[in-house]
Amino acid sequence: MLFLVPVICFSFLRPVLAALRNVTIDDTYGDPDTGVQFTYAPAGNWSLGQNCTNCEAHPDPAYTYDKSWHDTTFFPSLDTAPPNASVSFNGSAIYVYCIVYHTTSYPNNYMDLRFLIDGEETGNFNQIPTGSTEIDYNHLVYKNSSIPHGVHTFTLVNGQPGGQAALVLLDYMTYT
Ligand SMILES: *[C@@H]1O[C@H](CO)[C@@H](O)[C@H](O)[C@H]1NC(C)=O
Ligand SMILES: *[C@@H]1O[C@H](CO)[C@@H](O)[C@H](O)[C@H]1NC(C)=O
Ligand SMILES: *[C@@H]1O[C@H](CO)[C@@H](O)[C@H](O)[C@H]1NC(C)=O
Ligand SMILES: *[C@@H]1O[C@H](CO)[C@@H](O)[C@H](O)[C@H]1NC(C)=O
Ligand SMILES: *[C@@H]1O[C@H](CO)[C@@H](O)[C@H](O)[C@H]1NC(C)=O
Ligand SMILES: *[C@@H]1O[C@H](CO)[C@@H](O)[C@H](O)[C@H]1NC(C)=O
Repeated sequence: MLFLVPVICFSFLRPVLAALRNVTIDDTYGDPDTGVQFTYAPAGNWSLGQNCTNCEAHPDPAYTYDKSWHDTTFFPSLDTAPPNASVSFNGSAIYVYCIVYHTTSYPNNYMDLRFLIDGEETGNFNQIPTGSTEIDYNHLVYKNSSIPHGVHTFTLVNGQPGGQAALVLLDYMTYT
């Protein structure tokens, strides 16, 4: 009889623990559970990084998630609207990862990101490159673990009108 108590507790706890899990949405291959993909706008401003011959950034695909990433530069003098990438998810936390250079040319990885949840700006990430030649893979640029549970749209916006030329290499996003 004494052994019944822990067995009962464990069977009650199990479904609760199993309910929280992480799903990773790749920039190119999308959400493995739902098939949902990132939407890139304007589509022509984004390059499939691993296939891009005229991009200045050529990170090692082996260190990237699913050997893929998306590359865009906002040129304030040429582009009226900053490029963005959006995706929907059902969850309560998100973690957004980029590949980050620190060089000032080829590529100049000045970064000026803004993050929106359901159209509301909730965060940003800025970098003035130091000149270091190290490349950071799996660089967390935005985390939010206090999102009301449910279906939401996440948007990353690269650069702002009147700002400087800004580069981003988007690799993947994880949601809980
Ligand atoms: C999801 O991933 C984040 C970032 O790695 C981690 O902090 C968190 O504990 C993970 N959550 C679950 C439920 O595995
Ligand atoms: C994303 O870019 C498209 C095309 O420029 C624009 O219509 C849309 O409003 C932008 N979305 C956000 C959230 O900035
Ligand atoms: C970005 O997209 C806009 C709208 O399609 C286009 O006018 C502009 O030339 C593009 N910029 C670059 C750098 O490709
Ligand atoms: C990217 O390159 C791979 C391998 O060369 C090819 O299979 C794929 O179709 C290319 N994708 C696009 C969108 O060009
Ligand atoms: C979102 O996820 C929760 C918990 O997993 C589930 O109960 C709910 O039905 C999902 N909502 C949608 C619209 O898929
Ligand atoms: C997380 O997202 C919610 C909206 O879903 C927002 O109210 C909150 O400020 C965000 N927190 C962070 C740290 O970005």
